[in-house]
Amino acid sequence: MKLPLTLGEFIIENQRDFPYASGELSQLLSSLRIAAKVVNREINKAGLADIRGAAGNDNVQGEAQQKLDVFANDIFIRSLRARGEVCGVGSEEEEDFISFNDPIHNTSKYVVLIDPLDGSSNIDVNVSVGTIFSIYRRVSDPGTPVQMRDFLQSGSEQVASGYIVYGSSTMLVYTTGRGVNGFTFDPGIGSFYLSHPNLTIPRRGKIYSINEGNYVHFPEGVKKYIKFCQEFNPESDRPYSSRYIGSLVSDFHRNMLKGGIYIYPKGTTAPNGKLRLLYECNPLAFIAEQAGGKASDGYGRIMEIVPTDLHQRVPYFIGSIEMVEEAERFMKQYADLVS
Ligand code: AHG
Ligand code: MN
Ligand code: MN
Repeated sequence: MKLPLTLGEFIIENQRDFPYASGELSQLLSSLRIAAKVVNREINKAGLADIRGAAGNDNVQGEAQQKLDVFANDIFIRSLRARGEVCGVGSEEEEDFISFNDPIHNTSKYVVLIDPLDGSSNIDVNVSVGTIFSIYRRVSDPGTPVQMRDFLQSGSEQVASGYIVYGSSTMLVYTTGRGVNGFTFDPGIGSFYLSHPNLTIPRRGKIYSINEGNYVHFPEGVKKYIKFCQEFNPESDRPYSSRYIGSLVSDFHRNMLKGGIYIYPKGTTAPNGKLRLLYECNPLAFIAEQAGGKASDGYGRIMEIVPTDLHQRVPYFIGSIEMVEEAERFMKQYADLVS
C-alpha cells in the first residue's frame, strides 16, 4: 500500500511549480509545519500542563491574552526566524511588526502575517482552535530592514496562505495559488499526510455561521439574510442549520468541506466588524477563492482592500460562492436602511 505524500514531500514536489523559487518558500512552509507540530502538542496537553487560562495581560486588541496565545506566538516567530527565509512578521499578538533586522534576514524575500492562535477563548473548554498565516514577497529594498509597507499589501498580492486547525484531528490546509490541499497530522509518526488533495468548497451548503447574540446590532441586510436562511423553502433546501463554534478557523474549515457561509458583520459594538484583515480575513479569502468560494466585506472582494493598519478590522462574509453572493444581494438591497 502506497503511503500518501507527507507535507514535506508535497512541498518539494510542488516547488517545481515555481521556476523562480530556489526553495526559500519551501523552507518557509517547512518552518510553519514544524511550529505547528510543537503548538499541537501543547494544545493537546493544555488541560494537564499549567498552560491554560489567561496570561494575565491584554494584547494590542485589548483582549485577555491566553497563555497558549503567547506560547504559540513565540513558537511561530522563533521558527520563522530560525530558517532565515523571512525578514519580518506581523502578529495579532504584537502591537508593531517584528523586524528580524540583521544582515542575513534583511536579504530574505518574504514577510509573514499570523494569527498564532485563533479562537483562543475556546481553549479552556476544549473546543478546537487554529492558526492562520499569510505570506507576501517584501516590496522594500532587499538588504534593508523590513518596513510597514511590506505588510500593508492587499490580499491579492499573497504568495501563499494557510491555516492549521487543532481539532479532533490536526490538519494543515494551504494554497500557493495553485489550488488548495489539506494534510492530516499523524501524531504516532509525527508527520502531516496529504488527506484532502485539491480541496474545493461546494457552491452552496446548508449551514450559516454567525453570532446571533449580536443580532440587534447587525446591518438590516444581515438581519434579512438570517431570516431568509431560516424560512422554509423546499427548492433551496432551506431552512439552513445554524452552526457557530466561535473559532473562525473551525467554522471556516467545516464550511470548506460541507459548504456554508460564515459572517462576522459590522455592528454597533464592532463598527468595522471584529476580524482582522491581514492575518484572518485575507489568508482565508485566498484559500476560499482558490477552492472556488468567495470572500467579501458584504459589498466587495476582501482581497482588493488596500490595508492602512496592521490590525485593521473588516466586516467578513466567506464561504460557498452562491451563498456569499446571496448575502451580498441582501446587503445591497438594504444598504440604506440603518438598523
Ligand atoms: P482570536 O481568538 O484570534 O481573537 O479570534 C477569535 C475570533 C474568531 O476566531 C471567532 O470566530 C470570533 O472571534 C468569535 O467572536 P465572538 O465571540 O464575538 O462571536
Ligand atoms: Mn483570530
Ligand atoms: Mn488569535
